[in-house]
Amino acid sequence: MARSYFNPMGTTALITGASSGLGIGFAHRLAERGADLVLVARRQDRLEALAVELAEKYGTASTVIPLDLTGPDAVAELVTDLRTRSVTVGTLVNNAGFATFGPFAVSDAGLQREQVALNVQVLTELTRAFLPDLLQTAGEHPHGAALVNLASTAAFQPVPRMAVYGATKAYVLSFTEALWYETHASGLKVTALCPGPVATEFSRVAGVAARRRPQSVDQVMRTVFADLDRGTPPPHRVSGARNAALAWLSRALPRGAVVKATGRLTARRRTA
Ligand SMILES: NC(=O)c1ccc[n+]([C@@H]2O[C@H](COP(=O)([O-])OP(=O)(O)OC[C@H]3O[C@@H](n4cnc5c(N)ncnc54)[C@H](OP(=O)(O)O)[C@@H]3O)[C@@H](O)[C@H]2O)c1
Repeated sequence: MARSYFNPMGTTALITGASSGLGIGFAHRLAERGADLVLVARRQDRLEALAVELAEKYGTASTVIPLDLTGPDAVAELVTDLRTRSVTVGTLVNNAGFATFGPFAVSDAGLQREQVALNVQVLTELTRAFLPDLLQTAGEHPHGAALVNLASTAAFQPVPRMAVYGATKAYVLSFTEALWYETHASGLKVTALCPGPVATEFSRVAGVAARRRPQSVDQVMRTVFADLDRGTPPPHRVSGARNAALAWLSRALPRGAVVKATGRLTARRRTA
């Protein structure tokens, strides 16, 4: 086993959005490596079924916390709950997030508020609340603590018809890269994961037809865990060579040209 191998055995990992898609992928990979889990999302039945599956497969102890993270005081409740249970969070995966699709002018204002709340505010508050735990764990378990924030390839350019989503993910990317630097001497593994289209419930929730040739959750997990197995993961990682090339182009080309090209692409997407 390489010295830098990510080994969260004996620590606890908190995963938001663990009832579906990438969150389930993280739960399996972290359980396989011996972490206890805290599973958070709204759909309690899904979380409980996952906890049973993980216990049978890997002997994992999971704490299931059904919670709408955008609710008033939800983050404070979660933090208090974990403090009461004396849980120290060694790995935090800020994965819960969603998008809406369509022109902003006629979008549902409440959903836009929730989107900013979940993708930006909750992610920031959870990171602030648990970063001291993560740093403490990094000191006590070398190569055993991580902060993974879910950004997206949408972070690299404005996205007409997903204007709020693109902006929230640009925030996640910038925020996480800054923390990557601030914590680089601590041993904590910090990275912003930037997938392109992945086969999850994401498109259905956003109300848009799924993209062709999505990556699988497993492909994305292989990418991020290979990074975590490095001594220091990169500040961000785009999952998939084609997605990485497009993200690179988005940064290399003039911003005006990029937003026009992205707008033409999203104009062709059908609502679901
Ligand atoms: N799939 C893609 O194409 C793609 C690409 C790039 C980035 N991403 C990012 O990857 C992350 C995971 O998305 P996914 O693809 O796995 O989508 P998904 O299958 O729709 O999963 C989203 C998760 O977030 C949870 N969630 C949503 N609203 C919540 C709330 N108010 N409170 C608590 N939990 C909530 C959902 O659980 P409940 O409904 O049970 O609450 C679900 O577990 C997101 O941040 C997304 O932006 C996805």
